[in-house]
Amino acid sequence: MSGDEATNGTGSRIAGFNRLARADRLARLVEHAALGAGETRDLVGGEPLSFEAADHVIENAIGVLGLPLGVALNFRINGRDRLVPMAIEEPSVVAAASGAARLVRAGGGFIADADQAIMIGQIHVLRVPDPAGARARLEAAAPRLLAAADAVHPGMARRGCGARSIEVRELATTPCGPALVLHLAVDVGDAMGANVVNTMVEALAPEVTALTGGEVRLCILSNLADRRLARARAQIPWSVLDRASFSGREVAERVVEAWALAAADPYRAATHNKGVMNGIDAVALATGNDWRGIEAGAHAWAACRGGYGPLTTWSLEGETLLGSIELPLAVAIVGGHLDLNPRARLSLKLLGAESARDLAAVMAAVGLAQNFAALRALVTDGIQRGHMALHARGLALRGRGGA
Ligand code: MEV
Repeated sequence: MSGDEATNGTGSRIAGFNRLARADRLARLVEHAALGAGETRDLVGGEPLSFEAADHVIENAIGVLGLPLGVALNFRINGRDRLVPMAIEEPSVVAAASGAARLVRAGGGFIADADQAIMIGQIHVLRVPDPAGARARLEAAAPRLLAAADAVHPGMARRGCGARSIEVRELATTPCGPALVLHLAVDVGDAMGANVVNTMVEALAPEVTALTGGEVRLCILSNLADRRLARARAQIPWSVLDRASFSGREVAERVVEAWALAAADPYRAATHNKGVMNGIDAVALATGNDWRGIEAGAHAWAACRGGYGPLTTWSLEGETLLGSIELPLAVAIVGGHLDLNPRARLSLKLLGAESARDLAAVMAAVGLAQNFAALRALVTDGIQRGHMALHARGLALRGRGGA
């Protein structure tokens, strides 16, 4: 199939969507079987989040904050078209993702996947008299420790998830002397896993104290979810990259040069990755996920390999531009505040998220698309041209008193 068909049926390429009135956009989503008529009615008439729910979710609630919810088009990931919900206040992000996804379609779309949802819980032990002996005792007790962890969340094991392994790390020097850190790896399935993992590591603390003879301090998950990586790849033919006075080949070369600066310079890498996270955070917000955890994991990962670097890579291959991304994505399609947030559930439905791994793979593709869109704009027209045209609409609305 060519990249540009599928303007009907369940495709993600809905021509002229941005020019339609809201009611017509929603009608197209119903036509595309992405949402039911009742759900679109609820989007228009219903409350995004009741105050009652908000009051349960946080303390001292006084209201609910609004944020635009949009849909990015044109995404084809692993041969399947996906409509991508994005909640974000920044103009041009949704348009940029959609535009980039349209170009990637021309090369066959994104290839993306994600690891099993393994989260790490840490148990931090100080003043261990014999670290090597303690390590050996912990390792020998692994089956018992894993069973004890599973016992506090028997439902997880019944669903085929649960504690998987332990690893002991000796930190010979910290600012407060040596420390032993036990890592508990847990398959959390379709959850983000923070509650599950935190309960498990807290439950193991007495046993770890006994086995090490030390003092247990922190029991908490790590947001550096490096056993839960998602990755995506895109190959874009030069032929679709021509832009204004630049040939497709020049655009591709300039994108690689832009990436090279991020690879060499953390000042640029931070901004490069901010562009990646524009897309990933917007999907995280729309789907009710913990974007702070995702941000923490992404930037820690970006700093893990010999200095802070870009989350994506770009190179030339034949007459194509080849992009890839890999980062930890601890995301959920169940649990958290999803049960209380109808719009987040609706976003997951719009996306057709089948599992947390599926959602993570889509988010990796969105991050890559967002990065590509930013680099392409930066190396051709500059970022302000498109951005300011969209920003101007917001300013005009403000001039009318936000009507
Ligand atoms: C702005 O939100 C994001 C960019 O700065 C990303 C980048 O520079 O790559 C445009």
